[in-house]
Order: sequence, then C-alpha cells, then structure tokens
Amino acid sequence: MLNKLFGRSQTKTDTNSSPDKKNCQIRPMTLDDIPTIVAIEEASFPNPWSQASFVSELRDNYLARYYCLEVEGKIIGYMGLWIIMGEAHITNIAIWPGYRGQGWGEYLLKNVMQQMSSVGVLRITLEVRVSNTPAQNLYRKLGFKPAGIRKRYYTDNQEDAIIMWASL
Ligand SMILES: CC(C)(COP(=O)(O)OP(=O)(O)OC[C@H]1O[C@@H](n2cnc3c(N)ncnc32)[C@H](O)[C@@H]1OP(=O)(O)O)[C@@H](O)C(=O)NCCC(=O)NCCS
Repeated sequence: MLNKLFGRSQTKTDTNSSPDKKNCQIRPMTLDDIPTIVAIEEASFPNPWSQASFVSELRDNYLARYYCLEVEGKIIGYMGLWIIMGEAHITNIAIWPGYRGQGWGEYLLKNVMQQMSSVGVLRITLEVRVSNTPAQNLYRKLGFKPAGIRKRYYTDNQEDAIIMWASL
C-alpha cells in the first residue's frame, strides 16, 4: 500500500470463504464514516492513517475512490484506490480483525475490481509488505502477480514492499 506500514502476523482462524451476502453492501465512503474507518485502520496497521488523511482523500483528491463494506448496517471493512490514466493504485484495504478469514476481504476486493473494470480501468496495482502473507495470498488469489520490489519502502522497519499488478 502507499506508504503504509504492515507487519503483524495474522493467524487464519476460520476457513469459511463464502460470507453470507444477504445483508451486506459495498458503498462509497462518506465523511461520516471516517471515525469508524480510523478505528479499523488503527486495529490493522502499526502506522495508521489519521482522520485528517481520510478527510483530505475524500474532500480534495479527485483521483481517489474509497469504499466501505457494511454487514447488517455495520462497517466491517474498507478499501481505497487512486485512478490514474486507466490504472488503479490501491492505497489501503482492511477488514475488522473479528471478521477476517471469512471471505470478506476477497468479497470487497473482487467487487471493487469489477467496479473498476466496468468504468474502463485496465490494470490495478499495490504494494504489500514482504511479511504480509495473508494479504499476498488474497492478491494472488484474485490474479495479482509480483512485478518488483521497492527496497526499504516501509519506514518503521525498513521492510521491502512487493509491487503487484493484475489485469482487469
Ligand atoms: C488482508 C485482509 C484484508 C484479508 O481479508 P480477509 O477477509 O481476512 O481475507 P479472506 O477471508 O477474504 O481470505 C481471502 C484469501 O486471502 C488469503 N488469506 C486470508 N487470510 C489469510 C491468513 N491468515 N493466512 C494466509 N492466507 C490468508 C487466502 O488466500 C484466502 O483465500 P482462501 O480462504 O481460499 O484460503 C485482512 O487480513 C486484513 O485486514 N489485514 C490487515 C490489513 C492488511 O494487511 N491489509 C493489506 C495491506 S497490503
């Protein structure tokens, strides 16, 4: 992700990858959502984006698209992208810890990739920590392939980022 710091090891506890989609929706993020989004951010990343960062993204960055995943009226995940010249660059994606390993991350990313494709985006990219195996597995499952390394990309521990790309 963009200047994002990852590295918590995560243990997969639930292999149910077909979430009940009856009471869920993916919708554009609004300013009112930001406190919840920041709570998920803080539960997910050692160097979380601030409230001000999300406000700036939603208000000022015309390249940015941010989406919330709601289940039974509760936001359980989100992701964001920048769309630049027919390419989407994922800035962040996270699922509430208690909802991980149940297929929600895959559901969110797959749906947003379909949405990007439907508006003419041709390729999608991201950076991921070399230690973030759960995220790498998710991305590979959805067709992302490693395309290079950004050396010492993460400033907290100088960890390298893997650059991944997928065609849409
Ligand atoms: C990465 C993240 C978004 C995945 O969301 P999730 O809802 O837990 O993932 P899903 O349940 O949809 O799993 C989809 C696939 O991801 C991979 N995966 C998910 N959790 C995994 C784990 N703990 N270990 C290994 N692979 C895992 C698997 O390939 C899985 O497919 P499978 O069920 O067929 O094996 C979530 O773990 C998260 O929020 N992590 C913290 C934030 C983060 O690291 N974001 C990514 C930054 S690059």
